Amino acid sequence: GMVRHYKFNVVMKNATRLCSTKPIVTVNGKFPGPTIYAREDDTVLVKVVNHVKYNVSIHWHGIRQLRTGWADGPAYITQCPIQPGQVYMYNFTLTGQRGTLWWHAHILWLRATVHGAIVILPKLGVPYPFPRPHMEQVIILSEWWKSDTEAVINEALKSGLASNVSDAHTINGHPGSVKNCASQGGLNLQVQPGNTYLLRVINAALNEELFFKVAGHKLTVVEVDAAYTKPFNTDTVVIAPGQTTNVLLKANHASGKYLVAASPFMDAPIAVDNITATATLHYTGSLGSTITTLTSLPPKNATPIATTFTDSLRSLNSKNYPARVPKTVDHSLFFTVSLGVNPCATCVNGSRVVAAINNVTFVMPKISLLQSHFFNISGVFTDDFPGKPSVVYDFTGKKQPTNFRTTRGTRLYRLPYNSTVQLVLQDTGMITPENHPIHLHGFNFFVVGKGQGNFNPKNDTKNFNLIDPVERNTVGVQSGGWTAIRFRADNPGVWFMHCHLEIHTTWGLKMAFVVDNGKGPNQSLLPPPSDLPKC
Ligand code: C2O
Repeated sequence: GMVRHYKFNVVMKNATRLCSTKPIVTVNGKFPGPTIYAREDDTVLVKVVNHVKYNVSIHWHGIRQLRTGWADGPAYITQCPIQPGQVYMYNFTLTGQRGTLWWHAHILWLRATVHGAIVILPKLGVPYPFPRPHMEQVIILSEWWKSDTEAVINEALKSGLASNVSDAHTINGHPGSVKNCASQGGLNLQVQPGNTYLLRVINAALNEELFFKVAGHKLTVVEVDAAYTKPFNTDTVVIAPGQTTNVLLKANHASGKYLVAASPFMDAPIAVDNITATATLHYTGSLGSTITTLTSLPPKNATPIATTFTDSLRSLNSKNYPARVPKTVDHSLFFTVSLGVNPCATCVNGSRVVAAINNVTFVMPKISLLQSHFFNISGVFTDDFPGKPSVVYDFTGKKQPTNFRTTRGTRLYRLPYNSTVQLVLQDTGMITPENHPIHLHGFNFFVVGKGQGNFNPKNDTKNFNLIDPVERNTVGVQSGGWTAIRFRADNPGVWFMHCHLEIHTTWGLKMAFVVDNGKGPNQSLLPPPSDLPKC
């Protein structure tokens, strides 16, 4: 492969949305940030220069980072943050992946404005396993706050359940036609009758799952999270924060303008930003201002639409792209994902909402876990996840506990190199059930099963799909249900796993795996680069 060089200057920039202007943190002054283009097997070098007053770090979401955990990016997990005035060169090679991924800041809530697309094309001369599109378009869905993100963070840390809901959704950085504020800019996708377009859709929103639709057009899903799928047609794409979805759109009208829309999906009684973001699909040469709008947008609690969509996802599993699902399991794990309430002296009402995996609220360390692991620095983490919970309750939420308190700790789960893992993620709904998009760094996993209610190891395991389950890096654990994933621990290092709803990560819904080196050649974590930031 080739070597691709990028330079990311992290700078403040004024941006005007919803008729008001505020300074935001950006890469190269752009929102969304620049797209990284590369081919499978290429090496990507991104020089990040921090010109702002905040600590930053950038994560390459979904990139496997085989043996290069130092370039993964989550602050205090694989690196110390890049401090103001400092520089860090991210250096990684793209192996065995092609499709759409994305990059984002991985510290506090900076990713609200610091994010962009990664497009990995197949190796030169290798076609897509679907008809070649005439043109490709990146579509980034996100959220916009009128207040600055620091205020949003502080509110979330102090508050109880009421999180700060965004003021608008955006498509490629713009809310579109929002009431009372004529907006400018935004996506106006030009198409020609008869042509086919590849839309690379990314959900970069902090806290909201989204429905994505184009009026008058069916979408054919061909890839998610940089793994090919069996193609299927849908009116509506359902996409959780962290996920990417590639769809083909056939321009099968003669002319006209059609609405493109993103609206929220939330199946719990929780406040969401209800404003639909819009953009336009425009047949070249069509005059006039009439836009064909959507006859209907799914209501925010349209769980059946979401379920139909996720149940349709299957790995392509062809001769060239086989689904390598682990058929046996070395580590069978059961993790609950939930919210709890802990005492807090400085908070409103003397308590605050926390989030936990197996009742452990993750505490961020002071130096990176990967450094602690590589240099054998003790006292940073323990590898006894989840340990003994301080409060034992029925994880599966069959009866309401009398105590919502969680344990706090920096606990990791250790995996030998190349061991196979089955992980059942159970939403417990201690306070209220909620859909959690769980993201695992360093691996793709296969979604072998899912269901409503409590996981039943006896019956549910029998129905697992070990042939062509969808392969991805972020999966929505449905509200009041469970999801089972499998992966092979073939990537030595420390790998973060967390809910990709930023507010839940902030509250502690996160943990990490430590994967030991193997004994063979090329089975160890590489040494850190010399410019690795210091804490
Ligand atoms: Cu896209 Cu750890 O995140």
